Amino acid sequence: MTEPRRVLVTGGNRGIGLAIATAFRDAGDKVVITHRSGTPPEGLDGVICEVTDTASVDAAFTAAEKLLGGPVEVLVANAGVTRDGLLMRMPDDDFEGVIDTNLTGAFRCVRRASKAMIKARHGRIILISSVVGLAGGAGQVNYAASKAGLVGLARSVTRELGGRGITANVVAPGFIVTDMTEELPDARKVEIVKSIPAGRMAQPGEVADVVRFLATDAAGYISGAVIPVDGGLGMGH
Ligand SMILES: NC(=O)c1ccc[n+]([C@@H]2O[C@H](COP(=O)([O-])OP(=O)(O)OC[C@H]3O[C@@H](n4cnc5c(N)ncnc54)[C@H](OP(=O)(O)O)[C@@H]3O)[C@@H](O)[C@H]2O)c1
Repeated sequence: MTEPRRVLVTGGNRGIGLAIATAFRDAGDKVVITHRSGTPPEGLDGVICEVTDTASVDAAFTAAEKLLGGPVEVLVANAGVTRDGLLMRMPDDDFEGVIDTNLTGAFRCVRRASKAMIKARHGRIILISSVVGLAGGAGQVNYAASKAGLVGLARSVTRELGGRGITANVVAPGFIVTDMTEELPDARKVEIVKSIPAGRMAQPGEVADVVRFLATDAAGYISGAVIPVDGGLGMGH
């Protein structure tokens, strides 16, 4: 039986983040999720965090460390948004806002987590990207750029901190059944499913299982990798 790890999942109040947090908790780990408002889901500890705000990220980590009884050993940077629109009509705010949440938000969390990980000479960093990060997406220049940026972030962390027992990996989900995909028009969903070799969207738990694996000792020599969980949608990238 391995020791329970101290895990922080950003945006863990719903969707993929909630599935990830639940999977770690059910495996016996100590888990704190971040949420922006309200109360955390039943059975999980939560701290308030707005990832676009460095002070909020710092305060959330400090509060999480208290709840966990020590520094974060496994960081899952999952919080993310879409603000889709065609390139020619996309306002600066929609581009910058998505980058600030999805990419800079992850950077803020990784930077805050890294200090204790370096000291402990151990850490697991998992960034939730998207198939769109490598394949691109029409109407998603902001989202795709933010998700591609996570690859450079994880790989640079791997080069900087790989010698200190820290791994940094990217998980790139395809289409997963959550509020984010629920927003898509039905006709678009049918089109999407047709393009997925697996012939279906995935459940959030299917992403969670891969994230959990990356945090295990068995995955200790995997770093700087992009692991697709997309039913074959992104093959070839
Ligand atoms: N669903 C998919 O098909 C899919 C595919 C590929 C990648 N992904 C990625 O997987 C991650 C989770 O997606 P999901 O489908 O579970 O999305 P979701 O259901 O829309 O949940 C997004 C989560 O991120 C949080 N969040 C958003 N902006 C934030 C901010 N500025 N500060 C702090 N938290 C913030 C949300 O908090 P609130 O509840 O407060 O809004 C929520 O907890 C995202 O990074 C997404 O890009 C999803």
